[in-house]
Amino acid sequence: MKVRACIRKVVSMRLTKYRIIVIFFIVLSQAVFGFIFVLRKMDFLEHKVKPTIPAPDRDINQVFCTFQSLSKEKSLEERLLLDSIAWPETPVLLDPLSLEQTSDPAHSKFIILPGRGGGRWHVGDQLEIMIKMYDFQGRPKKSGGDVVLTQLHNLKLGAGVAGQVVDHLNGSYSAVFSLLWEGSAQVEVTLVHPSEAVTVLRRLTSEQPDRVYFQSLFRSGSLSETTTCNVCLRPTQQPLCNYTDLRTGEPWFCYKPKNLNCDARISHSMGGFNQNLKAEEEKLFQSGVNMKVSIQASGPANVTVLPKKKGKPEVKSSSVKSGPSGYYYQGAWRALGGTMVNQFNTSSAINQCLKGKKVHLYGDSTIRQWFEHLNAALPDLKEFNLHSPKQVGPFMALDYANNILVTYRCHGPPLRFGNVPATELRYIANELDGLTGGSNTVVVIGIWSHFSTFPMELYIQRLQSIRRAVVRLLVRAPGTLVVIRTANLKALTLYETLTNSDWYSLQRDKVLRAVFKGLNVHLVDAWEMSLAHHLPHSLHPQPPIIKNMIDVLLSYICPQKGG
Ligand SMILES: *[C@@H]1O[C@H](CO)[C@@H](O)[C@H](O)[C@H]1NC(C)=O
Ligand SMILES: *[C@@H]1O[C@H](CO)[C@@H](O)[C@H](O)[C@H]1NC(C)=O
Ligand SMILES: *[C@@H]1O[C@H](CO)[C@@H](O)[C@H](O)[C@H]1NC(C)=O
Ligand SMILES: *[C@@H]1O[C@H](CO)[C@@H](O)[C@H](O)[C@H]1NC(C)=O
Repeated sequence: MKVRACIRKVVSMRLTKYRIIVIFFIVLSQAVFGFIFVLRKMDFLEHKVKPTIPAPDRDINQVFCTFQSLSKEKSLEERLLLDSIAWPETPVLLDPLSLEQTSDPAHSKFIILPGRGGGRWHVGDQLEIMIKMYDFQGRPKKSGGDVVLTQLHNLKLGAGVAGQVVDHLNGSYSAVFSLLWEGSAQVEVTLVHPSEAVTVLRRLTSEQPDRVYFQSLFRSGSLSETTTCNVCLRPTQQPLCNYTDLRTGEPWFCYKPKNLNCDARISHSMGGFNQNLKAEEEKLFQSGVNMKVSIQASGPANVTVLPKKKGKPEVKSSSVKSGPSGYYYQGAWRALGGTMVNQFNTSSAINQCLKGKKVHLYGDSTIRQWFEHLNAALPDLKEFNLHSPKQVGPFMALDYANNILVTYRCHGPPLRFGNVPATELRYIANELDGLTGGSNTVVVIGIWSHFSTFPMELYIQRLQSIRRAVVRLLVRAPGTLVVIRTANLKALTLYETLTNSDWYSLQRDKVLRAVFKGLNVHLVDAWEMSLAHHLPHSLHPQPPIIKNMIDVLLSYICPQKGG
């Protein structure tokens, strides 16, 4: 179902004391439904805040999430972005659900295709595999939409590269790998989710975009109340506090406390998660069965790559259509886009690079990791105690002798942290507008994982507002270096999947790259760096991966002369 095809209108009226919000929305999916959400009265507990959410109607996309009216230009871009990430149709689930006809990694298999060289490969060639999906009864799947990842690696050489997967929409998939090192190369294929699980993940977002909810504490004198907050709140008779940001237009609402006014908001935290999944649907998300499980080869899973043939041009990312952005060799990331990645192994090498620089890190906990890494790697960089909450920041570290400043600040809501002072809820775009910039300034942005459960439109809008601020920054201070960290893969449990599946991240990652394409910004490809590495996927990648990311960052800041 296409959430994007919805037309939304908000009409709000004030009636003497009570404010009544009527939300009209028209849902266009396969058919066209018109539907008016009738105001519902809800009981509200002051402390245990858990809104009673109406049972979703099975056939109707309930869109109560309304965003600011977009400009024509921005909504055109939104359409194009949504089209560019359109996922194939996935099967309608039978009731009762049985796994029998769903994709089964144990029955599925892949083969290495002999290619033009008739089974001989050289560095610079491509290796192609064909993946065939089967269900639990061993019958071939006839449709696409499974979430498949591939990589090629050689543990001994510390080498790895991500494969590019093509869905043929008929139950088979191919993947292409660039062959970048000599010696053995082992293919690994992973089914992240069967297509049937994607059906569920999609439905959750269209029906329950508020399944992750938040709360704010309001306090004045001895009175305090806690209410539920979100990007969009289901209409009730309870009035709202509208914290929509006037500069960026980013929406944010809390139910108004009964006895306090909206200015009394003290703090923000994640409230919880409503898991409205049918028990039988959980079968689609089983670790070791059908979630992040390897698919085996029906023949050999590895090849021996021979030295490069004489006179063959270098593999460049730009010359291979949607080729990899880099690969690991001897544990070190090598970029293919033209940037030479240097290794900054010692604190003096990093100090030399960062001398005189201000490095501002904005984003989620995956960017906070970079702050922590730099802090640990540089003994002379001292964290200044701002008495900030550990998870949230803001953080600041200084090296007086080398005149280095490193700061971290989290992005604005939705933010699943606990105990964020309301005063620290700041949008990256507004922070960027407060920077003078210049050749001593490095800005790093990483924002993705807290957006997984919300409609894509929210993320697109957020990125558009950040991009506008980046453009303004680069116009007033062209010497500023702006670096974007992309999303990465993570370990999946049922809970992690429903709130932050790699499938959600994959879609957001594509949008992120598209929004910043063509701008003078640099990417750290966390997606491929987590996929190509032999270490297990983790929301917070392990130190060797972070070290490589920081090497890429420092290589952008301090490119090798003549390189
Ligand atoms: C699926 O489509 C691909 C690409 O068109 C084709 O090579 C393959 O043979 C097809 N597989 C089946 C089972 O039809
Ligand atoms: C919230 O405030 C914004 C900005 O003032 C406004 O555009 C929007 O219509 C308001 N939304 C609601 C539901 O009151
Ligand atoms: C593939 O791996 C196996 C086991 O590690 C090894 O014995 C074999 O020689 C390898 N084959 C090729 C073609 O590299
Ligand atoms: C950095 O350390 C790695 C691993 O120990 C080593 O292979 C590499 O040569 C070092 N690079 C530099 C520039 O010191």
